[in-house]
Amino acid sequence: MKFSYVNPTVIEFGQRQIASVTNHIAKHHKVLVIYGGGSIKRNGVYDQVEQALQEHQWTEFAGVEPNPTVETLDKAVALVKEQQLDYILAVGGGSVIDGAKYVAAAACYDGDGWDILEHKHTITEAIPLGAVLTLPATGSESNSGSVVTKRATKAKLAFLSPYVQPKFAVMDPDVMKTLPDRQLINGIVDAWVHVCEQYLTHTSKAYVQDGYAEALLKSLKSLAQDFDKRDSDDWRANLMWTANQALNGLIGSGVAQDWATHAIGHELTALYGVDHARSLAIIQPSLLRNQMATKQAKLEQMGIEVFGLEHSADLAERTVAAIEAFYHSLEVATSLTQYNGTREQAIDDVVQQLELHGMKALGESQAITLNHSRQILENAI
Ligand code: NZQ
Ligand code: ZN
Repeated sequence: MKFSYVNPTVIEFGQRQIASVTNHIAKHHKVLVIYGGGSIKRNGVYDQVEQALQEHQWTEFAGVEPNPTVETLDKAVALVKEQQLDYILAVGGGSVIDGAKYVAAAACYDGDGWDILEHKHTITEAIPLGAVLTLPATGSESNSGSVVTKRATKAKLAFLSPYVQPKFAVMDPDVMKTLPDRQLINGIVDAWVHVCEQYLTHTSKAYVQDGYAEALLKSLKSLAQDFDKRDSDDWRANLMWTANQALNGLIGSGVAQDWATHAIGHELTALYGVDHARSLAIIQPSLLRNQMATKQAKLEQMGIEVFGLEHSADLAERTVAAIEAFYHSLEVATSLTQYNGTREQAIDDVVQQLELHGMKALGESQAITLNHSRQILENAI
């Protein structure tokens, strides 16, 4: 095992922590507050941010959409450049935080910001940013990843850079009170798949990473079982913390990582507008079956440690069935039914997009070719 690990984001966790924003941004900064479609105006989060920034000079950019588009974000980039803003505060879910990361990097680059997503430009600087999380799911509040969509070409691509990792993240579970059930469920499912992408590979002797991954999966399983308790402080706090820990770099350190479910899922979102988490539930069971030969031992481990299943010759398959049942218990579909044209056309379209985006060798061993992706889609659509 060999790795470097640092997570430099300061976490301010707990009720009424939004006030701590005051202390994390020096008063000399000119701040851009960036947010989404307005949920923060309706649930009091905006007012708390305004209160925390009362001694700061700040301006705002609203309207970052779910699955943020470069078309919208480039308007924020122009604002940052025009007004020489030098700190960004993202207030929202993964889309707003990812969007803020793009703006932070693109504002320090003279070329076309989309170059960052196409890996034609390597980020060497970015405007510092902080985050007030309003939807626990992606872990974006304390990681270095960002996913941005180009509406014009339906390309949904990701970039990673330590320069865009938030300096601090405020995680007040009270903000979740206004989340619709659909988004709470998305949070459970996205975090679940994040753990799986870093756990369901080949076996390793990484006892800490495996054990912690299993603890996170068990936590998510309990939260799903206790979904009727979602209006309690403990339930909210546990989901917020679990989703954060699922993708903050720790459980993926020094172990193989997959991410093929995400790569294929992103195409479903870009083409058909499927919620990110729901795209993963559609692809993952089919992918696990397709890759059963290499993932069998780890699936068996998950079956025993997470689902409490007994040993049997078909344990790995029973684990995949248990994962499917977990999604179904949350009324999350595991097959795609809404697409344009015929099923065959949908499969062709997704495979074509994967090829266009260079996703020709996915998974922990780069063993998932376009043909495998086609097979995976044939069993998921
Ligand atoms: O825009 P507003 O009005 O704020 O409404 C949002 C949005 O409609 C709403 N919402 C957020 N907080 C709320 C709330 N509504 C009521 N009360 C609140 N407290 O929820 C809707 C969805 O928000 P969004 O940010 O899109 O959801 P999520 O956090 O699931 O983010 C999804 C995006 O993150 C990317 C996904 O691909 C997708 O684009 N990901 C980012 C990752 C990362 N940076 O590490 C990893 C993930 O795998 C993922 O790919
Ligand atoms: Zn995800």
